[in-house]
Amino acid sequence: MAINTILVVGSGTMGRGIAYISALGGYNVILNDINKEALDKAQNEIYSFFQAGIERGKISSEKANASKERMEYSLNLEESAKKADFVIEAVPEVIEIKKAAFEKLDQYTRDEVILATNTSTMSPTEIGSFTGKPNKVIAMHFFNPVPKMKLVEMIKGLETSEETASIVKGIATAMGKETVIVNEHPGFVTSRISALVGNEAFNMLMEGVGTPEEIDKAIELGLNYPMGPFKLGDIVGLDVRLKNLEYLHKTLGGAYRPSPLLIKYVKAGRLGVKTKKGVYNYEE
Ligand SMILES: NC(=O)c1ccc[n+]([C@@H]2O[C@H](COP(=O)([O-])OP(=O)(O)OC[C@H]3O[C@@H](n4cnc5c(N)ncnc54)[C@H](O)[C@@H]3O)[C@@H](O)[C@H]2O)c1
Repeated sequence: MAINTILVVGSGTMGRGIAYISALGGYNVILNDINKEALDKAQNEIYSFFQAGIERGKISSEKANASKERMEYSLNLEESAKKADFVIEAVPEVIEIKKAAFEKLDQYTRDEVILATNTSTMSPTEIGSFTGKPNKVIAMHFFNPVPKMKLVEMIKGLETSEETASIVKGIATAMGKETVIVNEHPGFVTSRISALVGNEAFNMLMEGVGTPEEIDKAIELGLNYPMGPFKLGDIVGLDVRLKNLEYLHKTLGGAYRPSPLLIKYVKAGRLGVKTKKGVYNYEE
């Protein structure tokens, strides 16, 4: 089956980036959300991605215009799902929300349409079980910011077919991404390591080992990480990080017990860049 139209469900931080690179990859794109305001904001940000791409000489204005014309914005999931040849879900990391979305997608898409989830931690096997076609469900884990980050981590659930994995790899490649294909286990590869490092950094801060600046610098220059764990945590969102850790603690055990200091930051509403205050201060 030719893949012409990609439906992206959820137009938040991740969905808008995925929609943008899908359009640049030559696909028709439908970006769907339940919230009109979120959708309008996503459209504005996608236009600014195109503008930045042109200004940096990465894309021509002809390509930007052609890509923009291939995009539509929708509040009607049923109508959009009926037109889709491939779906990527990027709704919030809450199992009830994912379940409701996948049940509807299963109902409205054609049988052959693959349904991918951009979950950072959840089980593609469980998400597949919400549908009547678990062989066509796979996790397609993009990274933030989507236009910039090279990797798509693809995670096969128990029932995901090799054919599904191979088709999705082709789509990710057309979007300009590198892929790894792994089998499902909590946290996959990247979230499992990143959560552990981020949590340990909070424990070190709590123990008075060093300041955030010193710990970040040690990790960046001593271990050659592009970004220290506190800078990264503030970008990811400390609430998101805590939620991931709670899930990994439940599934993988004690090593992932959320640091009490991280819990305290989240309780204080210091969630990172998005609240202008996390480990670091972003107020002007
Ligand atoms: N933010 C990150 O750094 C990051 C990185 C990798 C993966 N993820 C994963 O991507 C997914 C989305 O995360 P995000 O950060 O973009 O979230 P977000 O909160 O920024 O956006 C979610 C969007 O989904 C919309 N939405 C909610 N319910 C919906 C529904 N039923 N149908 C359509 N739209 C709906 C919301 O209105 C919102 O616009 C999550 O599973 C998350 O774990 C996030």
